[in-house]
Formats: sequence, C-alpha cells, structure tokens
Amino acid sequence: MTNSTDSTDKPDPKQTHFGFKQVNAKDKENLVAGVFRSVADDYDVMNDAMSLGVHRAWKWFAIAQSGVQVGHKVLDLAAGSGDLSIKFANKVGPQGRVIVTDINPAMLEQGRRRLADAGCAGNVDFCLVNAEQLPFADNSFDCISISFGLRNVTDKDRALSEMARCLKPGGRALVLEFSQPTNDTLRRLYDAYSFNVIPRLGEMIADDRDSYQYLVESIRQHPPQEELKEMMAMAGFDKVRYHNLTGGIVALHIGYKY
Ligand SMILES: C[S@@+](CC[C@H](N)C(=O)[O-])C[C@H]1O[C@@H](n2cnc3c(N)ncnc32)[C@H](O)[C@@H]1O
Repeated sequence: MTNSTDSTDKPDPKQTHFGFKQVNAKDKENLVAGVFRSVADDYDVMNDAMSLGVHRAWKWFAIAQSGVQVGHKVLDLAAGSGDLSIKFANKVGPQGRVIVTDINPAMLEQGRRRLADAGCAGNVDFCLVNAEQLPFADNSFDCISISFGLRNVTDKDRALSEMARCLKPGGRALVLEFSQPTNDTLRRLYDAYSFNVIPRLGEMIADDRDSYQYLVESIRQHPPQEELKEMMAMAGFDKVRYHNLTGGIVALHIGYKY
C-alpha cells in the first residue's frame, strides 16, 4: 500500500495508457495488435479519408528529409502498408536494401502486397519485428524510420534507444507522428474534427468505430514536440530537430548519430 508521501506524480511503470484507458503495460501490445488486425484491410482507404489525402504530403516530406541515397540500407519500423518503404525502395535502388517491418502479421501482409503491386522486388525484405527489440546488429542502417507507429509502442524510450543503437554513425532516424497543433484555434477545430468525425468515418468505412476512437485518443497521449525531442536526445540521438507539419497536427523529428 502506498502512503501519501510516496504517491508522487511518477507514473506506475506497470501501468500505461491505451487511448484514454489505463491498462497494465504487459497488456498494451495485445490491445494494439487487436486494433491493427481489425483495421488492416481498410487501412489505406481510411488514411486518405481521415486526412483528406494530406498524409501523402507528410510522408513525402519525411522522405525528402531522410538523406537516403542509392545503395543505402534502410529500416522501416511499424511499416504497416508500406507507404514509406515503397519510396525508400525506389530511392536506394537495386544496390540498396529496405527492411520492411511490423509487429503485426496482418499489417505486414498489407505491406508485402503493396510493395509487390508497386513493383518493388529484389531490394526489400519483410520481417515481423517489435520496435522495442530490434534483431539487428549495432550500426547497421543508414536510415531508420517509424511513421505513425511510435505512439502505439508500449516502451517508447526503449524503441528509441534501439533505433539509436542500430543506426550507423552518420545515419539519420525519422519519427513521423501526430503531435500538438501550435495554434489554439486550429487545436479546437482539430479536436472537434477528430472526436466527432474520425470515429464516425471508422464506423461508416471500416465498420469499426472503436479502433478509430483509440486512434484519436492515442494521439492525445503521445508526447508533444519538445518532450519527444528530449526523449530522442536521451535515447542517444544527436542534434535532434523537428518540423511541424500542418500547424503541428503532425511533426517530423529527425535525430542523427555522430
Ligand atoms: C498507424 S500504422 C502506421 C503504418 C505506416 N508506417 C504508415 O505510416 O502508414 C501503425 C503500425 O504500427 C505497428 N505497431 C504497433 N506497435 C508496434 C511495435 N511495438 N513494434 C512494431 N510495430 C508496431 C502496427 O501494427 C501498425 O502497422
């Protein structure tokens, strides 16, 4: 039993959030897996519907900032249906390699199909991987990305440390994720849209309101720009910077390893 002097504001390490719910940390991975198993088939249609297609511009911006060149080796974590992986595969060319990973077999299968449809073959590998435990050697990749994935990971600090470990000196890590709008009016409009429209779109298009309710809640639990920047620095990245996109609805954090 804790007494009142012990009950500081420190989070209970055994508890974490799943959207707005508090859950046991060991259960979050399964709960998140349930969400992505359920949304896998309609994932791409829903991305376009929810963001009115703007997620494509956010992803192009991330690629433009990646520094990826012909011959590079890239790790795409939480790759899902592979939007970034396709673009990386085209950039690295036949001399390079992209490792397309996700924790969820249904989402990885979507990625495999999308990459095949996009004509990516010969320079891509697919691998079931938990971003918290990377089965790769130190200093292996020129670029490591995680796009709209980090907020779903239970131990974000551990995932970031793993990314720093596996990045080559001179390499770049990209974290593309929902963040905090920088302007109050935009924040109010965005809140109204997210809480009122997105779960309804989920119900109408994917017959799954709950997963999209989790999506909007999980965005509010994700560390805002400055906090994530600090976490990346603590994880071992150098010169961390971020770009706010669409007024901070999304942010791209970039960390280097020297
Ligand atoms: C919103 S999707 C993002 C997919 C893609 N990167 C994109 O930008 O469209 C989030 C992905 O994170 C994956 N994921 C959740 N927890 C993970 C973990 N611990 N390790 C790796 N992937 C995870 C999910 O399975 C899902 O495919």
